[in-house]
Amino acid sequence: MIMRFNFEAVIFDLDGVLTDTAHYHFLAWKRLAESLDIAFDETANEDLKGIDRMGSLDLILGSTAHRYTHEQKCALAEEKNRYYQYLIATMSPNDLLPGALSALHLVKASKLKIGLASVSKNASTVLERLQITTMFDDIVDAATISKSKPDPEIFLTAASHLGIAPDRCLGVEDSIAGIRSIKSAGMTALGIGKSSILTEADKVITGLNLFSLHHLHSFESK
Ligand code: BG6
Ligand code: MG
Repeated sequence: MIMRFNFEAVIFDLDGVLTDTAHYHFLAWKRLAESLDIAFDETANEDLKGIDRMGSLDLILGSTAHRYTHEQKCALAEEKNRYYQYLIATMSPNDLLPGALSALHLVKASKLKIGLASVSKNASTVLERLQITTMFDDIVDAATISKSKPDPEIFLTAASHLGIAPDRCLGVEDSIAGIRSIKSAGMTALGIGKSSILTEADKVITGLNLFSLHHLHSFESK
């Protein structure tokens, strides 16, 4: 069914939506998993996308998690983060995904508010490297929230900071957990990636290069 919406805000995820840091997170977790003799591939990685650092580590450790003390887990998470930070050290505006900057400009030109909802503690660094910090009316990251996606807290906090009702917000996400967060916040979800993976999204496009004015006004809603 085609639904007409008058969105008043678009809230973007960062990793995997505006830039390909989702791949760097994957590489860093893969390196850690291999050092622990744990099998880890792109398919297993789908469940980690959008999940905070310690939650991701628990998913990787799985049934072996009880073998580690809290301090050991913190050290492993820190090791992953060091490698991740090494991978993002040379990022620049060239690392914006195709269509990302145009999508932000399109939303701004349409007089809608722009929010960012990322559970990453590195979000502000990545935004600075991409030189897009000032594009956002509000940024909600790991410092502001207590619950990781799929909890709706992060998208609800962004909507509340922007002063826009959740049902007037469009959330844009590349992760299964993120789409769940958007939907349980009562928002419309635009998935970035494969529709076979992001099955709970209202619509899925393969990248922001396909984002258009049309997505701000009408939607085939589930
Ligand atoms: C999310 C990523 O944006 O941030 C996850 O999708 C990542 O893969 C999470 O684990 C936390 O990131 P960080 O930078 O705080 O370790
Ligand atoms: Mg993401």
